[in-house]
Amino acid sequence: MTGIYFSGTGNTRFCMERLIQEIGGEGPYSIEDRAALDAVRRSREIAVGYPVQYSNIPKILRDNILDHRDIWAGKRVFVLATMGLFSGDGAGVLARLLERQGAFVIGGLHLKMPDSICDVKVLKRTDEKDRILAAEAAEKVRKAAAQIRSGSPPREGLGPLSHLAGLLGQRLHFSQRTRRYTDRLKIDADRCVGCGLCERACPMHNISMRSGKAAAGGRCTMCYRCANLCPRQAVTLLGRRVIKQNRALDSRQTV
Ligand SMILES: Cc1cc2nc3c(=O)[nH]c(=O)nc-3n(C[C@H](O)[C@H](O)[C@H](O)COP(=O)(O)O)c2cc1C
Repeated sequence: MTGIYFSGTGNTRFCMERLIQEIGGEGPYSIEDRAALDAVRRSREIAVGYPVQYSNIPKILRDNILDHRDIWAGKRVFVLATMGLFSGDGAGVLARLLERQGAFVIGGLHLKMPDSICDVKVLKRTDEKDRILAAEAAEKVRKAAAQIRSGSPPREGLGPLSHLAGLLGQRLHFSQRTRRYTDRLKIDADRCVGCGLCERACPMHNISMRSGKAAAGGRCTMCYRCANLCPRQAVTLLGRRVIKQNRALDSRQTV
């Protein structure tokens, strides 16, 4: 099995690395890496990981799949969705998109991880709690990998009840948010020290340096990578100030 993923702030990458390590598969490759497409082309079984955004697929992943829809026909796919708290059908929404491209979905997994929306108060946990969440997710991945190896993968988020929960819980209200770019990304020029970290990290190349300060364009897909990385907490999107950055990834490498 080959792993590919999109990860805004590292949670999904962490879970996919664990899954592929446990299975002894290939990758995982970020979809930002051209090698991901070639890996999908030559593999029959693929695990796809992504962070749930309002019970939906991040635009960057959705667009990537639709731009290369021909490569998915006949693939056997396992879907892994990470989330801050809950998604009715996090795995299901990607499963349906891939099935429409001719893929066959063999299973799904939902993993609760630290919240990546660093500028909104809800869902903020202590560092200790975040580490526990990551450790629990790693254990759940280990069990899922064993089930995949034994030929009966978990099927979280794939049934009709999950579909309904995802739809009523969030997608009816928020479905358009992940279809369009947002121009709401704000960079506080007074705080910005022009280090360029956000510019280099943005998967959409939506941030550029102007007169030594970072400035955002209108092609943000809300992955929250820049806001979580900024050493000066100068970047916000949905909220007005950064409350807690998701930096647990570094310490999670040792979980
Ligand atoms: C724009 C946006 C919307 C989100 N919506 C949800 C949601 O509907 N349900 C949920 O449980 N988590 C939600 N989250 C949290 C992320 O899915 C979660 O933190 C995920 O593990 C982040 O993964 P990453 O580090 O790989 O980007 C959202 C995050 C973002 C940035």
